Amino acid sequence: MTITNEQVVEALRTVNDPDLHKDLVSLRMIKDVVVDGSNVAFSVELTTPACPLKAKIEGDCRRAVSAIPGVGEISINMTSNVRATDRRGIEQAPLPGVRNIVAVASGKGGVGKSTVSANLACALAQTGARVGLMDADIYGPSIPIIMGVEDAEVGIDQIKQQIIPVERYGVKIVSMGFLQHATAAVIWRGPMVSKAVQQFLRDVQWGEIDYLIVDLPPGTGDAQLTLAQAIPLTGAVIVMTPQDVAASVAVKAIAMFRRLDVPILGIVENMSYFQCPTCNTRHDIFSHGGGHDAADALNVPFLGEIPLDAQIRAEADEGTPTVVISPDSPQALAFRDVAEGVAQQVSIAVRKAPIPLAMA
Ligand SMILES: Nc1ncnc2c1ncn2[C@@H]1O[C@H](COP(=O)(O)OP(=O)(O)O)[C@@H](O)[C@H]1O
Ligand SMILES: [Mg+2]
Repeated sequence: MTITNEQVVEALRTVNDPDLHKDLVSLRMIKDVVVDGSNVAFSVELTTPACPLKAKIEGDCRRAVSAIPGVGEISINMTSNVRATDRRGIEQAPLPGVRNIVAVASGKGGVGKSTVSANLACALAQTGARVGLMDADIYGPSIPIIMGVEDAEVGIDQIKQQIIPVERYGVKIVSMGFLQHATAAVIWRGPMVSKAVQQFLRDVQWGEIDYLIVDLPPGTGDAQLTLAQAIPLTGAVIVMTPQDVAASVAVKAIAMFRRLDVPILGIVENMSYFQCPTCNTRHDIFSHGGGHDAADALNVPFLGEIPLDAQIRAEADEGTPTVVISPDSPQALAFRDVAEGVAQQVSIAVRKAPIPLAMA
C-alpha cells in the first residue's frame, strides 16, 4: 500500500501548536512533504529556533504520522523561520530587516535589566537566531561593559551613512554609550531621548535580525514613555526583583506599556533567590514567588526567575555574560529558560498583532 502526500497532510492536521492553538497545517508550518513508497519525510518550520516545545511538537508529529496504515520510516526535519511583527513583510517594517523588537524594561534602576538583556540576547543567538542588542539606556549604558565591547570602535558605512554594529557572541550591538563618551549620567528630556534613539536606531545597519533586544532606561517617566512610543515594539519584558512586588514599581511599568498598547511578553524575577556558591543550595531571602504572583494578578506571563548570584555579577563585570562563559551552569539554564519563554511569547504576540505597526 502506498501512502499519499494528502494522507500525511491530513494526519498532521491533527497536531496543534500548543502556543498558537491551531494545527500545524493551517499555520503553514509543514513544508516539503516527500513520500517514497511507505517512507515519509517532511519539515516542521517553527516560529522560533528557541522553541521550548520543539521536542513535544516533533513527537506529536511522529505519533500522528505513525497512525497512517502501512507507514514505514518517518524522518522529520525541525527548522525555524521567525516571523515579523509587521505583517506587510520585513522590507516594509519600520526598521527594514528587523523582524521583532523586544523592550526590556523595569520600574526602577539596579534590578538587573542590562544583565538580563545581555544574557537574553546571547541565549537567543546561541539557538541560531539572528539577534541585535540596542542599549537605549542613556542614563547608564552598561551593555558595552557586560558584552565586553567597551573599547570597540563602531564602524561607519560612508556610502550609506550608517553605523555598523559591533558584533560579539553572535550579537550585533549598538549603544548610546558609543556616542556619548561621558560616563556620567546625562540629563535628557523625554522628547530628546526619543529623537536621538529613533534616529540612532534607523541609522544602524542591522541587516537581517530576528530579535532586536532593547535595553530601555529604567523607570516610567517622560523619557521612557516617549521612547516606548518611538520604537515599534513587538512587546516588553519587565524585570523586577522580589522587593519590587511590595513597592509595585513593576506594576507602574506594566501600566505604561498597556496604555501604549504594547503587549507585555512577561515578567522576569531577578535576584530572586540566593544560590549559595559553597553548598549550592537555594535560599529564599525574600518571600519567594512574588514575581509569579504579580504576573498572575496582572494577567501576564511569568518568564522565570534568576538567582542572586556572585558569579552572574562577576561574569557581567568581565564582559562575558553567564550564558556564554558558563553555559552549563544552573544560572545559565535559568537565563535560557527566560529566553525560550520570551521567544515563545514573541511568536504569540506576532500572531495576535492586528495591524501593521508604523513608526511614530
Ligand atoms: N542575578 C544577579 N545576581 C547578582 N548580581 C546581579 C544579578 N543581576 C544583576 N546583578 C548585578 O546588579 C547590578 C545591577 O545590574 P544591572 O544589570 O546593571 O541593572 P540595571 O540595568 O537594571 O540597572 C550589576 O552590578 C549587576 O552585575
Ligand atoms: Mg542598566
